[in-house]
Amino acid sequence: MTPTIAFFGATGGCANACLAYTLRSGYNAIALARTPEKLTTQLLTQPGITQETLDTHLRIVQGDARDIETVMKTLIVTSTPQSTTLVSLIVSGIGGTGELVLTKPSPCDQIPMRMPTIPHIGIPNPHITEESTTALLGALRRIADERFGSFAEYAAVAPRVTIISGAGIKKGIKDVPLLFKPLYAALDVPHKDKMKMERLLGAEVERRESLLCGGLVIVRPSFLGGDHKIAEPGADSGYRKLRVGTEAKPEVGYTVGRALIGEWIYREVVKGGGDKWVGEGVILTE
Ligand SMILES: NC(=O)c1ccc[n+]([C@@H]2O[C@H](COP(=O)([O-])OP(=O)(O)OC[C@H]3O[C@@H](n4cnc5c(N)ncnc54)[C@H](OP(=O)(O)O)[C@@H]3O)[C@@H](O)[C@H]2O)c1
Repeated sequence: MTPTIAFFGATGGCANACLAYTLRSGYNAIALARTPEKLTTQLLTQPGITQETLDTHLRIVQGDARDIETVMKTLIVTSTPQSTTLVSLIVSGIGGTGELVLTKPSPCDQIPMRMPTIPHIGIPNPHITEESTTALLGALRRIADERFGSFAEYAAVAPRVTIISGAGIKKGIKDVPLLFKPLYAALDVPHKDKMKMERLLGAEVERRESLLCGGLVIVRPSFLGGDHKIAEPGADSGYRKLRVGTEAKPEVGYTVGRALIGEWIYREVVKGGGDKWVGEGVILTE
């Protein structure tokens, strides 16, 4: 049976590129999107993706990634009273779009005012990746409890999870150039959110006897550039420029294209299975 991959945050450039490679190669996908038309419009701009590709290989679940029921629908391929088939892999590029802000809320709840501060990047929901990760784990827990006869039956088919986090997030790893340190300091709010996502999933992976994920791959791109657009079939995407580091052997770089991140996840995890990268924090840069 053709594997089915679940996508979260696929209207973002990295996950959209990965989804496009996935669909173009004939895999099936289920994608959660707040605005399905935004996702289909974006996918139809991708080379090699037609309306027929979407009709044949993609199911879109409309909703919010913080809603457990909606997330469950995204993870279940088929379900009958006798059996449930799950996606084999989950790819998440959920995040909040950053904006430069010059104030922060007053630390005193009683005072409805904002205080001036040094310029930093704020996001509309500073807890989005933490909240969506909590919902994802909640959905997997309910699926394991409600849809399978025993935990062992669930564990045998538990989906592998790939999340997009960011470089500069884990203390003690030299994956950010000195010149970019002030910029990363300004990204304090989204970075704390990403760290919480990594901790939630990391703690889950350590609970070996009740493991909800069939392995975790953490992708840590450097500063993102470019858009979701993937290369024409057979054309050079520039993939050879991509440098791949790990926590033990980090790569340091300034920027990386969103489409290359999507291509790496497609090649290494969707197509390659990702065994080599399970348990790793993979640094990607150009
Ligand atoms: N900017 C950087 O330099 C940088 C560097 C390293 C890592 N990152 C992280 O890398 C990841 C991918 O980045 P990107 O630029 O490709 O994507 P992005 O533009 O940050 O896209 C974020 C995605 O999350 C979705 N989303 C947000 N809140 C949601 C909710 N409540 N329910 C459902 N979906 C929701 C958005 O959907 P909508 O279209 O509905 O908004 C969008 O699909 C992000 O987590 C980003 O923070 C960024």
